[in-house]
Amino acid sequence: METPAERHRLFFALLPDERVLDDIMRVASLLKSTYHPRGKWMPVDMLHMTLIFLGDFPALASDAVVVHALSSGDDVSMPGFELTLDSASSFSGRRPPWVLRGDKSREALMPFWRALGTALATGGFRTPPEADFVPHVTVLRDADKPLDGFEIKPIRWQVRDFALMHSRMGKEREYVVLRRWSLDKAPA
Ligand code: 2AM
Repeated sequence: METPAERHRLFFALLPDERVLDDIMRVASLLKSTYHPRGKWMPVDMLHMTLIFLGDFPALASDAVVVHALSSGDDVSMPGFELTLDSASSFSGRRPPWVLRGDKSREALMPFWRALGTALATGGFRTPPEADFVPHVTVLRDADKPLDGFEIKPIRWQVRDFALMHSRMGKEREYVVLRRWSLDKAPA
């Protein structure tokens, strides 16, 4: 039997701390027991908020994209900030992801998002349009039904760092943190 081709995905992300992870898992359990959707629940150690998706690559070793992404991360000097996840809903699509959203935190997050985008753009990387960025954490992938949006008890998240993630996609998927940068080094 043919083995699936390996792909290497790179993205910048925020990784929740333990307390935020607990809160997200609590909401995920509630969604599960209330709506019984079929799909792939994200394991707790893979929960994250994607900031900027860099793409999928056939191989990563000594790839210029990794080098550029690492030096872009090095160039970002921003203070930490607070995020709040305050609603649950699904995105569109036939097999929609179910997500926890932090729309009201956009203002707090965007200066950092722009700084990261600017660092990436300096090396020629085309960053996605700002309007396309919706702060969210995916809890369920490939759901068999949509979720009508509703407010949740706000989950407050003190963002103190960000990470460059490598997702190796073959038979199994695993995430590796390539580098993690502190946001607290810059004055608030
Ligand atoms: P998500 O944050 O909405 O779940 C690793 O697979 C991460 O990259 C996922 O969390 C996923 O989005 C994001 N991602 C996957 N494919 C993408 C794409 N084509 N464009 C933007 N983000 C993508």
